[in-house]
Amino acid sequence: MTKKWSLVAAIFFIHSAIFASNADKLRVYSDKDSDVLFYESSDLQDIAKALNSIGVRYERWQTNAELPEDADQDSILEAYKEDVDRLVQENGYKSIDVAKIKPDTPKKEVFRKKFLNEHTHSNDEVRFFVEGSGLFYIHKNDQVFLMLCEKGDLISIPAYYTHWFDMGDNPYFTAIRLFTDADGWIANFTGSDIAQKYPSFDD
Ligand SMILES: [Fe+2]
Repeated sequence: MTKKWSLVAAIFFIHSAIFASNADKLRVYSDKDSDVLFYESSDLQDIAKALNSIGVRYERWQTNAELPEDADQDSILEAYKEDVDRLVQENGYKSIDVAKIKPDTPKKEVFRKKFLNEHTHSNDEVRFFVEGSGLFYIHKNDQVFLMLCEKGDLISIPAYYTHWFDMGDNPYFTAIRLFTDADGWIANFTGSDIAQKYPSFDD
């Protein structure tokens, strides 16, 4: 191999090594076999279409507000007021809060485990990611949708949809949460072990 081709091969190898694990933002698997990947995309319009087709709402929100790292709940809600108010008007959500978790949050393992198995709620699960990321899994129509939610993503999973959520070993996100009522947020676990069969947030 000439010097030039050795260099090209080396660059290709490094590129592959760096990007091989970069999964698409949305991946859709068979619910019978986690080796069967039906679809994947990082195109936001295609993602919205795919999620809308199973009744899941997906939007991108923007703000011109400069939010500092330690922004409090009121300033975060003020920055996204227009979109939050629109959802509240449409769906009658009665309470709104901001959840924040960082790699140094005490008991982060406990938080992670809480919603790591398949469950449902009697409320919609509505989350807007102000910063950081988390991986939602939605089990619908014989498929499992893995949706990586990141800064600017709004996702709303309808009540009674089977789903789970992984924030990884070193969780980092700030999310606005909208609720219809406090009891509706209780997780009802299906008892299925399906969650263990799909790639985790850290995979
Ligand atoms: Fe949930």
